[in-house]
Amino acid sequence: MSQSRIITLHQPKRLEIGAGASGRVGAWAEDAQRIFVLATPHTSGFVDRLGLKGQVSVFDAIPGEPDIPTFEAALAAAREARPDLVVGLGGGSVLDVAKLVAALWDGEQTLRDVAGPNRVAGRRTRLAQVATTAGTGSEAGIRSLITDPGVGAKIAVESPHLIADIAVLDPELTYSVPSAVTAATGIDAMAHCVEAFTNLNAHPVIDGFARMGIDLVGRYLARAVADGSDTEAREGMMLASFYGGICLGPVNTAAGHALAYPLGTLLHLPHGLANAIIFPHVLAYNQPVAAEKTAEVVRALGLVEQTRDGDLLKAAHGFCARLGVEMSLGAHGATQDQLSRFAHDAHGIRRLMNNNPREMTEGDVLAIYKAAF
Ligand SMILES: [Fe+2]
Repeated sequence: MSQSRIITLHQPKRLEIGAGASGRVGAWAEDAQRIFVLATPHTSGFVDRLGLKGQVSVFDAIPGEPDIPTFEAALAAAREARPDLVVGLGGGSVLDVAKLVAALWDGEQTLRDVAGPNRVAGRRTRLAQVATTAGTGSEAGIRSLITDPGVGAKIAVESPHLIADIAVLDPELTYSVPSAVTAATGIDAMAHCVEAFTNLNAHPVIDGFARMGIDLVGRYLARAVADGSDTEAREGMMLASFYGGICLGPVNTAAGHALAYPLGTLLHLPHGLANAIIFPHVLAYNQPVAAEKTAEVVRALGLVEQTRDGDLLKAAHGFCARLGVEMSLGAHGATQDQLSRFAHDAHGIRRLMNNNPREMTEGDVLAIYKAAF
């Protein structure tokens, strides 16, 4: 941890939080004339709640893991619509595509041109991000991840021009998220906080957000899983997700997310689920070098009793399994012979692996996949 390191914290210009908050978008964007909404077939059902007044066109063909063809199709639709406001209405996939569409639809830059940090030239179109899941925290940040199907890896674009003008956390939009998805995405939100918290590049400012996020998960995730319309729990989880999103900015994740990515690109597991499966393993692996902070996580998640015998992996695994997450890679269709490819790919994601507080060889990574099989 380096207190002297300079960090930059980007946050949406305006944040609306609370039951019914999605209705605020229309009032905020009163003067918008052509509005382009990115959604999924499910979340497009929420468009009416936004109270939009201008001419609204909806693009709802965004799958769970957006790839380059999805992005190109959304971009083409935006060029038809010529919006003065882009609205992302969905989970992380939708919000990530919305960022890039808002920044790139009216310019010359391609996705290749902007891949990496700080390469987006600018953005003229306003951007509203309305989250409909509690997990990615994408509405909070400046990063967008698009899968390149050719190489089976993610393209990461990061730019201050991708930050939302307004972000909305309306728990009512998450009532219909199924309990299994609530569980997995909630653990993903926690993983963002924990991986930033125990990160080699951890920073006291971000530690504060991480602690708030982890506490909220400890308090509310089981409730949100048990009763999807528990407004207080849903709102708590949306806030945890938002805090996780803030953690992703200046510090980012580490080995947990690196190990989860091949499960998304090669095994096609949803991002949240992939992270839920990996989470307990990396938490336990890192414990020896991050004992104090790991102890804080254990307390926040209510696992003090379960870790009395010293078996953190078992306790954290139990936390995830009790939420209803199927924690076995084999049960999700993985085969033993895939694991070394996963390990090779995960180990190669240096932008995240280099953040991990404990060195991890390719053999260590493989051992984790085997333990998670
Ligand atoms: Fe994540």
